Amino acid sequence: MSSFFSLITFLFLFSFLTSFRASAQDPYFLNHNCPNSTTYSSNSTYFTNLKTLLSSLSSPNASYSTGFQNATVGQAPDRVTGLFLCRGDLSPEVCRNCVAFSVNETLTRCPNQREAVFYYEECILRYSHKNILSTTTTNEGEFILSNPNNISPIQKQINQFTGLVSSNMNQAAIEAANRSIKFSTIKTELTELQTLYGLVQCTPDLSRENCMSCLTSSINRMPLSRIGARQFWPSCNSRYELYAFYNETAIGTPPPPPPPLRFPGSTPPLTSPSLPGKSGSSNVLVVAIVVPIIVAVLLFIAGYCFFAKRAKKTYGTAPALDGKDSSD
Ligand SMILES: *[C@@H]1O[C@H](CO)[C@@H](O)[C@H](O)[C@H]1NC(C)=O
Ligand SMILES: *[C@@H]1O[C@H](CO)[C@@H](O)[C@H](O)[C@H]1NC(C)=O
Ligand SMILES: *[C@@H]1O[C@H](CO)[C@@H](O)[C@H](O)[C@H]1NC(C)=O
Ligand SMILES: *[C@@H]1O[C@H](CO)[C@@H](O)[C@H](O)[C@H]1NC(C)=O
Ligand SMILES: *[C@@H]1O[C@H](CO)[C@@H](O)[C@H](O)[C@H]1NC(C)=O
Ligand SMILES: *[C@@H]1O[C@H](CO)[C@@H](O)[C@H](O)[C@H]1NC(C)=O
Ligand SMILES: *[C@@H]1O[C@H](CO)[C@@H](O)[C@H](O)[C@H]1NC(C)=O
Repeated sequence: MSSFFSLITFLFLFSFLTSFRASAQDPYFLNHNCPNSTTYSSNSTYFTNLKTLLSSLSSPNASYSTGFQNATVGQAPDRVTGLFLCRGDLSPEVCRNCVAFSVNETLTRCPNQREAVFYYEECILRYSHKNILSTTTTNEGEFILSNPNNISPIQKQINQFTGLVSSNMNQAAIEAANRSIKFSTIKTELTELQTLYGLVQCTPDLSRENCMSCLTSSINRMPLSRIGARQFWPSCNSRYELYAFYNETAIGTPPPPPPPLRFPGSTPPLTSPSLPGKSGSSNVLVVAIVVPIIVAVLLFIAGYCFFAKRAKKTYGTAPALDGKDSSD
């Protein structure tokens, strides 16, 4: 009886631990856009080409280390062009995982649309019947996320805040546009208590000028008086937060100094529910894991004591159910 109980407990714990591991690794889906104005049928050449394209983008020899790859399959009018773009601070392994995951989901999310863009936290996947390379797309597929928390009254200088966010983001945009990977981050201490982190990225097929104008528009379209926001287009994206949302080690900046003290209550939660970042969801996960474990352990101990006592009482000198038990 008690071994049955402990088996249940272990299965329970095991299922929690494994479900945690699976969810911790899955790329985080943000949004997708696939207008159904142009569709294909499932036995068309376009579909065959699209499948070839997707398997090429997710093949093991794709360029995950540069975080960007394009591919084209077939001839017009059935030609498909596609690309992936991974966030510039992520490792090839994370990039590959995100691309494989998103490729796997495309035909479920957009079953017969000729063009589509999929935004994940870690990567962007895109394909189209148009020639999407070396051109800027800012007229469709827009996605904006903003933290519902405005900057708090204590951060009084709203104009100063938005001005600082804007000037820092535009500085990052100049750097990104000038680099071949078309990616840049910026980190600035706004006050002793608050640090601004910004990230901008274009698909590297864009020219410096196109990347710059895409990012300038992107930054202009983000709400700047929140404690965090992001704006996505298929060609470029930008984001700022008051916490380190990218891997500072990976982009080669010195590790951050010890976390500054914050007045309790002066800073609204930096990871808001509507901005599902890693740190926000991991707290929930910790609670979701720790609480059931404690409950399970307590139940297990209670059950163990109960059955051990009952076994002794009922069966007296009969062999105990559990080997260890017989020694006490
Ligand atoms: C396209 O999508 C819109 C809205 O989702 C829907 O109303 C319309 O019927 C769809 N058209 C086709 C051809 O599926
Ligand atoms: C798809 O297949 C069906 C039957 O197999 C055929 O009637 C139809 O014309 C095909 N459509 C295309 C676009 O090839
Ligand atoms: C990967 O390599 C295979 C041959 O080994 C080739 O057919 C395929 O096109 C390559 N894919 C990419 C994305 O380079
Ligand atoms: C893709 O989906 C299939 C079936 O849904 C699944 O078995 C496979 O593990 C998935 N691959 C990835 C990389 O998510
Ligand atoms: C952009 O890069 C070039 C060299 O590639 C450099 O000469 C120029 O000063 C850079 N411009 C800015 C604004 O960083
Ligand atoms: C697309 O990829 C090919 C090789 O995979 C590369 O030679 C070409 O420069 C890429 N085009 C753009 C616009 O990045
Ligand atoms: C951050 O990047 C460094 C260097 O690439 C890597 O060793 C580390 O595992 C990364 N951290 C996370 C949390 O991904």
